[in-house]
Amino acid sequence: MSTERKVVGIRKPMALANWKMSMTVAESLAFVRDFQPLAGSLLQRVDVVICPSFTALWLVAQEIKGFNLHLGAQNLAATIEPAHTGQISAHQLADSGCRWVMLGHWEVRRQQGDDDEVVNKKLRLALEAGLRPILLVGEGERDVFSVEASLAGRLDRLLHGARPEEVERMGFIYEPEVAIGADTPAEPESVARGCGLIRGWITAEFGKRVGDRVRIIYGGSVSPQHAAGLLSSADIDGLGAGRAGRDALKFSQIVRQIAQVKLGFADPFS
Ligand code: PGA
Repeated sequence: MSTERKVVGIRKPMALANWKMSMTVAESLAFVRDFQPLAGSLLQRVDVVICPSFTALWLVAQEIKGFNLHLGAQNLAATIEPAHTGQISAHQLADSGCRWVMLGHWEVRRQQGDDDEVVNKKLRLALEAGLRPILLVGEGERDVFSVEASLAGRLDRLLHGARPEEVERMGFIYEPEVAIGADTPAEPESVARGCGLIRGWITAEFGKRVGDRVRIIYGGSVSPQHAAGLLSSADIDGLGAGRAGRDALKFSQIVRQIAQVKLGFADPFS
């Protein structure tokens, strides 16, 4: 086994699987059991966050104990008041073993009517509960402004009141709405531009240390076929996958390509 590394930056690469409203508890546990041997030592090199449905969180948390897999939720309630039937609070997520939580996914925004202010409220509650937010930011289908203006305006509202040390520990996913559930991901040039814009904005607002350390990945129709080609820019630290993130083999191939492109890592399975 050769473990050659290119220039290793200060950012550990990252991969995320968003299982959305799919996978039974049994399927979630089966994924984890299949995925762990496929990913093997890659899990030490890449931070892999899996985001199951609420119903599977606790059992998946038990299943991944002792492994380098991170557990995330897909959303949380914008309140801690208990009189919200059918909702899940940040504290309940932390209690069920989550370390991360996705916030601002386009599907949640559209279906639940979350605007940037609501996502900002959720961000605050997540941080107060000790969760690490993974903020999804990308231009919307209905945006009338340029990509630059859309991303800057949205980041400004989403991160209102956030402190540099909080932002540094968060993750960001550049995910344009049109790229979700499509046949192919966004073009590598737009992925590089989107991730670069986010990093540039964070650097300008929160300083170079934060800009250099925060992880920014791309999401939207990521597949093993396209993974390596999406990772060329230094601003991109990894990938998030919906459909391909529910297939243990495909997701392990994506994680492998992240390690190969970002760290120059080669393993016997490649
Ligand atoms: P997809 O989902 O990979 O199936 O396009 C991505 C997402 O919605 O985050």
